[in-house]
Amino acid sequence: MAKISEQKINEILSKTDIVDLIGEKVTLQKKGKGYFGLCPFHNEKTPSFSVEPERKIYNCFSCGEKGNAITFLQKTSNLSFVEAIEDLADRANVEIDLSNMKKVNPLSRLYNINEEALNFYKLYLSNTKPGTVAKKYLEDRGISNEIIQSFEFGLAPAEFELLTKTLTSHGILVSDLYDLGLSKQSKKETFYDLFRERIIIPIKDEKGNTVAFSGRTYLDKDKDSPKYINSPQTKVFTKSNILYNLHNALNAIRMNNRVVLFEGYMDVIAAHRAGIKESVASMGTSLTKEQVKLMKKYTNNVVICYDGDKPGIEATERAITLFANENMQVLIVNLEDGLDPDDYITKYGVEKLANFINDKSIDIVKFKYNMQLKSTDLKQMLDIERLKKNVFDLIKNTSHTNVDIYLQLLAQDAHLSDVSVRQDYEQYTRRSQNQTGRKRIYQPMNRLHITDKFINAERCILNYFMEGYRYVEDFNANFDVLFFISEEVRDIKIAVEDLYIYDEEKESKVITLEELQSVLSDDEYRYYLNEVKYTKNIDLRDDEYMDFKEVLHYYFDNEIQIRQIEKEIALASSSDVKIALAIKRDSVLRPQKGGKHNG
Ligand code: UTP
Ligand code: MN
Repeated sequence: MAKISEQKINEILSKTDIVDLIGEKVTLQKKGKGYFGLCPFHNEKTPSFSVEPERKIYNCFSCGEKGNAITFLQKTSNLSFVEAIEDLADRANVEIDLSNMKKVNPLSRLYNINEEALNFYKLYLSNTKPGTVAKKYLEDRGISNEIIQSFEFGLAPAEFELLTKTLTSHGILVSDLYDLGLSKQSKKETFYDLFRERIIIPIKDEKGNTVAFSGRTYLDKDKDSPKYINSPQTKVFTKSNILYNLHNALNAIRMNNRVVLFEGYMDVIAAHRAGIKESVASMGTSLTKEQVKLMKKYTNNVVICYDGDKPGIEATERAITLFANENMQVLIVNLEDGLDPDDYITKYGVEKLANFINDKSIDIVKFKYNMQLKSTDLKQMLDIERLKKNVFDLIKNTSHTNVDIYLQLLAQDAHLSDVSVRQDYEQYTRRSQNQTGRKRIYQPMNRLHITDKFINAERCILNYFMEGYRYVEDFNANFDVLFFISEEVRDIKIAVEDLYIYDEEKESKVITLEELQSVLSDDEYRYYLNEVKYTKNIDLRDDEYMDFKEVLHYYFDNEIQIRQIEKEIALASSSDVKIALAIKRDSVLRPQKGGKHNG
């Protein structure tokens, strides 16, 4: 892949007014030579974000984000390096030909067709008689024109084939409409529209491409039809990989460093009305691992706000397990009386919903405790015994304070005496210790969290190894050849290295997926696809590679010290000493702050 010359990049940067560019997203005020505003990368009340027009950089004194016009666009508009350059060149009127650099997306033709369909639906909503009726329906549900605009609602006409006819008359192939699920084929071989007489909600991927649609009934006569119909699975739409509203929510997710997860479209819109813009929806079906990973790319914190009814609670339990598998921090919001966010707004107003989500969320232990309590018949002795055992299981690995709190709560809720509950708990812990020998009291959560960025770095570097042998050579010159944090990464690296070593033309070789698959076990290959290839939307740039290397250097330099402490932890006599040592160990890795790859 050819490179964009440094000269060109400098020309583009020098012709870019960084104050104008950033000013589109941040309100800036001049102070001396620079400009100040509220940082778009974290949530703050007083400005610590500065833009320096002379040096053409921005810098946040509070969260440490800094960079130039390119990084700003990349981060705030979710663009790749090349896309950001293209955007800036365009603004600055600099000629640049990126056609051989941009991976031409073979799907872009289909995205464009979806976009045309969306325009058709939007026009139909705004300019027709049925549109007036549909807008009245939306208005009655509290959905303003502004929301219609920003969520790009449209309307599908009642006619059987108006969309198909209109788009094909614009030169679009009916086979494409069929592939996109917009047109269906009847027995007589004619084509007709999938969506008819429904309010159209476009579904976009994280880059903002329109990948699918959902259509909601809005007329009384359709009360018995399915409430929503959705685009089928197509070349551009796999439901399990998409979160509704993710693209729109990205900036708010970064700002608030959390994502709020709902079940449905209307929930997201209710949350948006309540000012909670970091909202996405899993669209009814149960959450998937892919969707969890999608969220994890942007934040480690999630608030689950599913419906308060029984299916909603069961879905929450499943979601908790998925998030826990990815070491994400989870809070749960349970709206009362089985209400969903939309009903909640109707009943109590937007402000109450925002307060509820922000202040009344509970952690996993509390959520599970509540569930246990709810399913217990407090008049049955056996039920109470089971409740105690389950709650003890739940809290046994948490802090002493936490244990105290829950034992008190349990006594209260189950109408038992404090003393008896405490005695039972002590007996329970003695028994379970005897059963399993010395239990691991300390849970290495902290450690996992801290090493995330190191593990991420070595996974990212693996992608470079695929791109050229020089990276392998450079890495081997810098690090102990076999020194990796994860065994999987180490084994894949060895396999990649072998592919080069036996190739005459290793210097110019790039390793393909097929080649890699041929030398990996199924498990290794799955690990590569799930954990490495899709870790980050990375653009393989040398300076990024250097950054990753730096992160790893930091880790390896401290690893010897860490291993020593870990030996001490294994030998320590009490849990208090273990915890103290674990904190010491984690602090070895902690000082490296503010770098690019700490997110
Ligand atoms: P809900 O029934 O909670 O819908 O289903 P909603 O979003 O609150 O919509 P309103 O308020 O009734 O208009 C949650 C999600 O499940 C999917 C949709 O993604 C919906 O947003 N769903 C539901 C379907 O795909 N088809 C259906 O028929 C129903
Ligand atoms: Mn709902």
